[in-house]
Amino acid sequence: MKLVRMLANLGHGSRKEVAAMFREGRVTDAAGEVLYADDQPERDDVRVDGEPLDPAPGMLLMLHKPTGHTCSAKDRGRLVYDLLPPRFALRSPTLSTVGRLDRETSGLLLMTDDGQLLHRIISPKAGLPKVYEATLAEPLRGNEAAIFASGTLMLESEKTPLLPAGFEVLAPDRARLTLHEGRYHQVRRMFAAVGNHVVALHRPQVGGLTLGDLPEGAWRLLDDGDRAQLYAMGGAGTTPAP
Ligand code: URA
Repeated sequence: MKLVRMLANLGHGSRKEVAAMFREGRVTDAAGEVLYADDQPERDDVRVDGEPLDPAPGMLLMLHKPTGHTCSAKDRGRLVYDLLPPRFALRSPTLSTVGRLDRETSGLLLMTDDGQLLHRIISPKAGLPKVYEATLAEPLRGNEAAIFASGTLMLESEKTPLLPAGFEVLAPDRARLTLHEGRYHQVRRMFAAVGNHVVALHRPQVGGLTLGDLPEGAWRLLDDGDRAQLYAMGGAGTTPAP
């Protein structure tokens, strides 16, 4: 692929804007030799303003989403894209969130520009567990684990019952829930169905991947090891490590 197109696809600007970067001598090889729009050098050998290129298409990243940010590319208010380098929102193929977290939910959010990978991760066949920690307005009643594990709980306006979900009590008003599907506002609606209300919701884990020590608002690229870790807990019915 010609360099001008590669840089435009990485969000450096329109082709016209990228062409201007070449004229200004901002695109070089690793040795500092100026490159031209039609050149097709090895990707690793390209520098823009002396910096290596952003990750190639096929990237997968994990963001520690804080509350107050929306999983949307266009919305009023703060977006998850505001936490990434501004170029990432202009990439082609587009960088999308893998599923969504509500604006007021914090935690592990995956993002990728690989449509097939995205579908593999969210596919019910993969059955990747998603672990949530919910703080509740009312103390737990004690019947939640049985109701959530039943496989018969029907949420309003849904046509099929929820899959069995794992449940652990963390405190009188806190619980950890492990889901193998992702329906709209699922955790909040599950607790509403048992007469409670979620006041804070956090997702520490997807598949076998956890946030680790990634600070809130930070992100990191996922490598092959992370990807293997993600799938290490596939299959409905598996329970995540405590
Ligand atoms: N369930 C919810 O209710 N909200 C989320 O953000 C994720 C799961």
